Amino acid sequence: MNQDFLPILGTDHIEFYVGNAKQTALFYQHCMGFELVAYAGPETGVRDRASYVLTQGKIRFVLTTSLQPNTPIAQHVAKHGDGVKVLALWVEDADKSFRETVARGAAPASAPETLKDNFGEVVVSSIHTYGDTWHTFVERKNYTGAFLPGYQPVKTSWKPESIGLKYVDHCVGNVELGKMNHWVEFYEKVMGFNLLITFDDKDISTEYSALMSKVVSNGNGYIKFPINEPAAGKKKSQIEEYLDFYKGAGVQHIAIATDDIIHTVSELRRRGVEFLRVPDVYYDDVLDRVGHINEDIQALKKLNILIDRDEEGYLLQIFTKPIQDRPTLFFEIIERNGARSFGKGNFKALFEAIELEQGLRGNL
Ligand code: FE2
Repeated sequence: MNQDFLPILGTDHIEFYVGNAKQTALFYQHCMGFELVAYAGPETGVRDRASYVLTQGKIRFVLTTSLQPNTPIAQHVAKHGDGVKVLALWVEDADKSFRETVARGAAPASAPETLKDNFGEVVVSSIHTYGDTWHTFVERKNYTGAFLPGYQPVKTSWKPESIGLKYVDHCVGNVELGKMNHWVEFYEKVMGFNLLITFDDKDISTEYSALMSKVVSNGNGYIKFPINEPAAGKKKSQIEEYLDFYKGAGVQHIAIATDDIIHTVSELRRRGVEFLRVPDVYYDDVLDRVGHINEDIQALKKLNILIDRDEEGYLLQIFTKPIQDRPTLFFEIIERNGARSFGKGNFKALFEAIELEQGLRGNL
């Protein structure tokens, strides 16, 4: 067993570098039901940036913006647009996580550092993964504060109600042509993850485009990272479109779990969040494919929620349109009823829906 060197307790947080964190925070609060819990910026003694910490269920998002033009944060946003900088992993020992992964070939991004305030201490360290994305290891067993030392708790005058988002189910990376196996190997060798599933271009192709995907997972299965690369097709694939606009590899989508997708998606739609649309004919024969489900099919059709089944159960899922102007990052909302897979039965319908949007953008 080579996975014991990196025990992971879960996703600690996801940090986005954005052009305007204040307004982005309002999007997550108003449209997605997150609660603003902590802040760091000039008012707290941080001079070069502002960061907003938002939570819902077990999910913690950090939105960071630069206050100056030539910082690494500003450069990241200039190059990539708004996007994910850090997929942070909650670990028992951030120093050991750093040493073990660097010894196995990880490129160090930030050496272990102990941060302290009145609420205790947190140890953080970071390594590079695909593109300009980092994995930060966070050890917080001796900490009781709102987020990290340096952040102050926020009390807002109103608290948005949760819309049922529970935890991060998986985070997908898009990497350059020919690089998928390189990054799968990185997760296997450097982080002790296991290859869970392989999808080839026969699983994932439409008239126009194709992609390849492999899913890696850590020992306890809490962390799942599918890695996509473009495959040759008649026209530009959605992965190439992403790479063109993100200017390289990066996080394509974050899947968030809910226990009641009908409620969650109804709320998201009511608040103006836009989703990819599959044609209504999808619902004509979907129950022949997936068998009995507990939900009312008409309700799913009305919300355009997709259904798939594997040996262990079924799942319901839906994908937002990109959440920024560049056609890069989007969200998936997923409700698992036993199924542990990723909705392979929906790939074709879904990618046709994506290509429709690509066509509208003139990128097909
Ligand atoms: Fe997904």
